[in-house]
Amino acid sequence: MSSALAQEVQRRRTFAIISHPDAGKSTMTEALALHARMISEAGAIHGKAGRKSTVSDWMEMEKARGISVSSTALQFNYTADGDDDTPHVINLVDTPGHADFSEDTYRVLTAVDAAVMLIDAAKGLEPQTLKLFQVCRHRGIPVITVINKWDRPGQTPLELIDEITERIGLIPTPLFFPVGIAGDFRGLLDRQTGEYIHFTRTAGGAKVAPEEIMSADAALDREGDEWTTALEESELLTEMGQDHDQEMFLAGQTSPMIFASAMLNFGVRQLLETLVALAPAPAGRADVDGTMREVTDPFSAVVFKVQAGMDTSHRDRLAYMRIVSGEFERGMVVTHAQTGKPFATKYAQAVFGRDRSTVDLAYPGDVVGLVNAMALAPGDTLYIDPKVQYPPIPSFAPEHFSALRVNTADKYKQFRKAMDQLDSEGVVQVLRNDLRGDASPVLAAVGPMQFEVVTARMKSEFNVDTTIEPLGYSLARRTDEQSATELTRQRGVEVFTRTDGALLALFSDKWRLQYVEKEHPDLMLEPLVATAD
Ligand code: G4P
Repeated sequence: MSSALAQEVQRRRTFAIISHPDAGKSTMTEALALHARMISEAGAIHGKAGRKSTVSDWMEMEKARGISVSSTALQFNYTADGDDDTPHVINLVDTPGHADFSEDTYRVLTAVDAAVMLIDAAKGLEPQTLKLFQVCRHRGIPVITVINKWDRPGQTPLELIDEITERIGLIPTPLFFPVGIAGDFRGLLDRQTGEYIHFTRTAGGAKVAPEEIMSADAALDREGDEWTTALEESELLTEMGQDHDQEMFLAGQTSPMIFASAMLNFGVRQLLETLVALAPAPAGRADVDGTMREVTDPFSAVVFKVQAGMDTSHRDRLAYMRIVSGEFERGMVVTHAQTGKPFATKYAQAVFGRDRSTVDLAYPGDVVGLVNAMALAPGDTLYIDPKVQYPPIPSFAPEHFSALRVNTADKYKQFRKAMDQLDSEGVVQVLRNDLRGDASPVLAAVGPMQFEVVTARMKSEFNVDTTIEPLGYSLARRTDEQSATELTRQRGVEVFTRTDGALLALFSDKWRLQYVEKEHPDLMLEPLVATAD
């Protein structure tokens, strides 16, 4: 049993794509599925015209804004070079694209073992990519870099490499170097074998692009100067020490790099091969006391995302768990570490966009959605004895604060219920104080769109009309009881208790904070950092 389990673990790769909106994440997801023969033609998952709405349309808001709020996981088999009968199992965990949902993305990143940083060749590093990269760095997640849209004019390879090295201190070590400048994508130099992979375009990029593998001599004959340039630049990188080194990659110091066009399906197979060859298989995790739970130990999992209202006909609530150890069998009764209560897993599902299927068996690295898991919140642990409890997922420092009011007094009871539910899902942070009272909690968020999710869901799921009223605060500090008394006397400062019991002082701006800190140096005012454990 245990060696079969170890084998299942070894053939799994669980990763997320981090990118700035429009860099091509949806197109790449589709291209990966196409290569894994999950779909026979690009367009099947996202469909060009309806792409944004078909991936996930659990809310009208997503459709209206063309964003995806819900995080889901796509699982597919991929037979890599050298695989015998047993293919690899790839779990691609989807991340919300909009910066306002960074906190969700952060939670998703706790569930993966590697990240693919997707960069638009013309735009280079963009703000959201940078932010997400910092999260990966903090969590020690190894990063593979893909320069996308090489079929369109953009920067030179060396410019992009320099930019990444200088701005984020991550050293790219290209594995597949482009032959032809951005906008004239002919193929890739495989820096490990020295061979040339020539791609042929298919109509509209709808099918896997045929590849022709050639020797260096044949490549020179065919591509002339373009080949020589690629070779010279590759040699330059070797001289600078920018060849792949597995240890440095796993340590987060270097990043294997691939040039690609998700639209034309160039470089996509190379990405899959790289994931299989270099990305780490699921590994054990330390619990709150630092004790390791190994992948082959009895079942345990971490809930990283809770989502309700995805299916308007069912109005259910799904908790997504990432399996950390052991085998999961649908129907088994596990324990919820936070409450000590048993939890039946009869309704276990795999979810991607609208599609759901029952999951009967799953292994470490896999993502399983548990239906109507009302008691589960992000960061919670589920296990089979012996007990294990993983560290909680830290929350982001909020930057937007609004009062939420219920418009009809007779709906107060539903309002409370709704507020509790959204709070436990981690949709926003909920702050309260005696002055404002229970009927008017203050919501704290990383991005204002999170507030819209609250009012929209209040209406659609609980039939409660609410109004959001932005408050003039822009930053929060953690404080204690002692300091709170003095802080409430200060102008432009208000103290709240968050649901988890933390005391937070809100300030109108950083100058107000600086002033208070200067006048009262003894007060406890600790920054809330996204990445603090
Ligand atoms: P996202 O999920 O990261 O937001 O990006 P998405 O895949 O939606 O891609 C954003 C735009 O970039 C799309 O164009 C898409 O077709 C295009 N794109 C993605 N990958 C490539 C690539 O490798 N090469 C080129 N040339 N374009 C690429 P759009 O005009 O917004 O949509 P559509 O009309 O093409 O559907």
